[in-house]
Amino acid sequence: MCGIIGYIGFQRAQPILLEGLKRLEYRGYDSAGVATIEDGRLVIVKSAGRISNLEACLEQRPLLQSTIGIAHTRWATHGCPNDINAHPHSDASGRIALVHNGIIENYATLRQYLEGKGITFRSETDTEVLAQLIGHLYAPGQLESAVRQALIQVQGTYGIAVLCLDEPDKIVVARRGSPLIIGVGADEYIVASDASAIVQHTSQVIYLSDGEIACLDRQGLRTTTLDARQVSKAVQSLELTLEQIELGGYQHYMQKEIFEQPTALRNCMRGRLDMHESRVVLGGITKLDRELARARRIILMGCGTAWHAALIGEYLLEDFARIPAEVEYASEFRYRNPVIEFGTALVAISQSGETADTLAALREGKERGATVLGVVNAVGSTIARETDAGVYLHVGPEIGVASTKAFTGQVAVLAMVAIWLGRKRHLSPTAAEILIRELARIPERIEQVLTSAEHIREVTEKYCDRENWLYLGRGYNYPVALEGALKLKEISYIHAEGMPAAEMKHGPIALISKGTPAVFIATRGAQYGKVISNIEEVRSRGGCIIAVATEGDAAVAKLADHVFYVPDTPDPLQPLVTVVPLQLMAYYAALARGCNVDKPRNLAKSVTVE
Ligand code: F6R
Repeated sequence: MCGIIGYIGFQRAQPILLEGLKRLEYRGYDSAGVATIEDGRLVIVKSAGRISNLEACLEQRPLLQSTIGIAHTRWATHGCPNDINAHPHSDASGRIALVHNGIIENYATLRQYLEGKGITFRSETDTEVLAQLIGHLYAPGQLESAVRQALIQVQGTYGIAVLCLDEPDKIVVARRGSPLIIGVGADEYIVASDASAIVQHTSQVIYLSDGEIACLDRQGLRTTTLDARQVSKAVQSLELTLEQIELGGYQHYMQKEIFEQPTALRNCMRGRLDMHESRVVLGGITKLDRELARARRIILMGCGTAWHAALIGEYLLEDFARIPAEVEYASEFRYRNPVIEFGTALVAISQSGETADTLAALREGKERGATVLGVVNAVGSTIARETDAGVYLHVGPEIGVASTKAFTGQVAVLAMVAIWLGRKRHLSPTAAEILIRELARIPERIEQVLTSAEHIREVTEKYCDRENWLYLGRGYNYPVALEGALKLKEISYIHAEGMPAAEMKHGPIALISKGTPAVFIATRGAQYGKVISNIEEVRSRGGCIIAVATEGDAAVAKLADHVFYVPDTPDPLQPLVTVVPLQLMAYYAALARGCNVDKPRNLAKSVTVE
């Protein structure tokens, strides 16, 4: 949701900024821009569309030689995606330039105030208000102070980087609610919305906290709070490697991330499954051991795919640990006056660890006295830092906008948490042992599913011109149906609905006409017989049945038009395996329809606005 980057050092800034923007492009790709100070002039170059458009604009100009600069890739909120609304924005004097990720909520009031002072605005953005306000408050040599005074007046969220022509050897950065990391190199700093834009330059970073401002020059950095108190920040080492964020031999990040799920899950479970003792070891939450064992209620929260994983988490926690659990959309939780009784634990699930809705909900839960846990992939992210304890996914960075390996990682972690908690409550060592053994086999089962990729592609291509699809499952496979439908719609723009298979007859069955693709997750398990009846109901109305079934199931093959087989897996762990053919279907449908798989329209990877 917008990516920002800044560089100050002794190298040419432009290539570093452009390279960084490309790494951040998954955060938004509506427009891009760069600002540097060149021969005593503030130069701003920006363009609507992808970063390649910005590159083309830069190529038509004399080479920018400056060793300082800021840049931005935009996911539009206020104002349509055009050249004028693209960042960087500048103040009326043209001496200050700013890039921003977040939303200035009181921008209308501030704009009115500034217009009253005679300032004319060029764009429709909330960001220009902040640039103009800083310019309005600026006194010579006092950039940091002007930024501080402006931010005190701002409501909303921001990660910003600011340049000033009159202080040409300085970048001022600040954050509240939007991520910002400072990479510390030898006599240089690279500040960015996330580590992917930093890792090729340095592995040493400083995580800026909410309400902090940092002033960077070539001699060093100084961090203060909004009320001007000095803060000393620790330099930390990144866990990320460059190789993890490269495509390798794959065509798309989504494809890479689907196919690396066996490895990702091995990494996720490494050292956490103790076969000999039939227990799960989760270092990140042991400090809350007693508190969680006595928890009376668990609320799981997330958005989108993370919410689907949370729904599976609810089933797992109730099944294995017999704790009342419920799932909340993070975006709804905060605004509906939730009841948090004594003994409530809240689990925030997020790949990025920066999703604004999830962050706001966890803060609300914390405020109301809940113990707050995180199930997060991005190490050091805001959600990871603000929770009382948590379990990292360790599935490696996820760059494709459609979440795949993070989903299976989230489900694997929730299964481990449920077994861990179950053993402290109702789960017998024998039952735990079976589950742990089965969990350990999941990576090889996914490997087996991935060998059917070509068959899945052929079937998908036959149906990818159909505009309405249904995804149906029951029990543990109902959230998988939701996830399958979300994957299809977000990257191939096909309308798809996921629902519990039994719900279909209460209305949605009216959507079935001749040739409507209906994807059933019909694996053997508790509700197998019922799902088979639901398949019959759709078939008799002319729907095309695509079934995900347990290997060797000839009965489903007789009913379905196409079957994708998956290895036999116990019910509670089936989502880890049954989701994989659905991820592949979405991927191949998007490819066949010529869609941009990794950068679907209107979306951004990390949603840092509410
Ligand atoms: C869908 C997808 C989104 C995210 C959601 C939450 O493929 O990626 O629905 O799952 O925006 O993001 P995180 O997990 O980063 O909080």
